[in-house]
Amino acid sequence: MSGYLDGKSIAVTGAGGGIGRAVARACAAEGANVVVADYGVALDGSAPSSEVADAVAQEICAGGGEAVALAGDVSRFDVGAEIVEAACEQWGSIDGVVCAAGVLRERMLFNMSEQEWDHVVAVHLKGHFNVYRAAVARMRKQPSGGSLVGFTSGAAIASTAQANYSAAKGGVMSLTRSAAMTAASIRMRGGPAINANCIAPVARTRMSEKVPFEMETGAPEAVAPMVVFLLSDAGREVNAQTYSVVGRRISVWNQPQELRSMWAAGERWTPGEIAEQLPRTVGQEPNWVIADLERRMAEMSS
Ligand SMILES: NC(=O)c1ccc[n+]([C@@H]2O[C@H](COP(=O)([O-])OP(=O)(O)OC[C@H]3O[C@@H](n4cnc5c(N)ncnc54)[C@H](O)[C@@H]3O)[C@@H](O)[C@H]2O)c1
Repeated sequence: MSGYLDGKSIAVTGAGGGIGRAVARACAAEGANVVVADYGVALDGSAPSSEVADAVAQEICAGGGEAVALAGDVSRFDVGAEIVEAACEQWGSIDGVVCAAGVLRERMLFNMSEQEWDHVVAVHLKGHFNVYRAAVARMRKQPSGGSLVGFTSGAAIASTAQANYSAAKGGVMSLTRSAAMTAASIRMRGGPAINANCIAPVARTRMSEKVPFEMETGAPEAVAPMVVFLLSDAGREVNAQTYSVVGRRISVWNQPQELRSMWAAGERWTPGEIAEQLPRTVGQEPNWVIADLERRMAEMSS
């Protein structure tokens, strides 16, 4: 144990299983007090139970750490505040939040129900908002500031049968960059240092069990050290980033930005002028996600 998080209070959503559990245990091993927040649901979000959050909190306490369990649904606005309050009441501060709670309801876009869309977006995207909002409201008033760590996915770029999950994960990245800008503006006004970053993990959990193709993966425990670093004082200057973490590999994502422009000769473009000029000026960007899908489908049919 290196004591990277000594004395900090960290709340981890989805801490009852998979990556969240590994992160919660790693935080405790590094000296943090931990709110183990998990609704204890099946992969599709059904059948909630308080047992998984209780079990992980007990594991941490049995190992000599400090933890409290909270079995709330992160898609509910008041649960975000309850999670943050649990840390503040118990230990006097909230120094970091990690949003690893997640569900899947996979379906092709043209068959997806309104409930499947709403539920997945609510747990992932609104779940992040609920926790970030409550956390930043406290962190901006603490001299020591704090850290926000979101969980996105490679599926944020695009995903064939997961339009709900993909959109929510893309939203998590935009929300986290916006939180990072808010944090920067708090600091520019003389407030405390707050950072906000995303992890795009791949790990062997129940969520990745059904992926229908071979992919690079690793243990959930391999994701935890990067989260600990981002939560620690050593990681506080890292802000507005997304990192893939898979087994031994950590990679930084690029920042979306405009690449090329073309200007109309007159007041505005006509469709015909665009048709004529776009291919030889701004053009298109290579879409490696669709290229990858084409390659995998060709492999499957050969
Ligand atoms: N496992 C991977 O390869 C992978 C890949 C990309 C992204 N991710 C993301 O990483 C995060 C962790 O995934 P995982 O693989 O550990 O999943 P997991 O299914 O093993 O664990 C998710 C946990 O979230 C909890 N949860 C679900 N809905 C909740 C709610 N409404 N409120 C509170 N808790 C709730 C579940 O009870 C469960 O314990 C997720 O955000 C997931 O989308 C995982």
